[in-house]
Amino acid sequence: MALYSEKVMDHFQHPRNVGKMDNADGVGEVGNAKCGDIMRMYIKVDPKTQVITDVKFNTFGCGSAIATSSMATEMIKGKTISEALELSNQAVAEALDGLPAHKMHCSVLAEEAVRAAVKDYYDREGIPYDETLMTC
Ligand code: FES
Ligand code: FES
Repeated sequence: MALYSEKVMDHFQHPRNVGKMDNADGVGEVGNAKCGDIMRMYIKVDPKTQVITDVKFNTFGCGSAIATSSMATEMIKGKTISEALELSNQAVAEALDGLPAHKMHCSVLAEEAVRAAVKDYYDREGIPYDETLMTC
């Protein structure tokens, strides 16, 4: 079996939603404690429905970080912010047909960046949130 699934290779070579976002409603930046790589995630939120209408990300991370972030942006686009908070790194890795065990920590970066962006949105809007959801 190949080390990386076809989906991982696809999202690594053709990452979705890469870039910056002007006028984002929430921006999250996180660093991976394990490798020092960093990730920035931008979300645009419809204030009426709380639906994430647009997502962008930038990373100085490895191929697995790029692939998981790309998949994560696709998974939260069109979802509400509370649904986005439920996205786990395991779910993202599963959607990619798996990651090698030693690269699972890379998927944490994507999950944490989503949560950090949502937290920033909540902070800006003055919406209270469950602090325990914001760390991994
Ligand atoms: Fe594992 Fe946050 S990266 S504790
Ligand atoms: Fe750092 Fe993958 S090795 S995110």
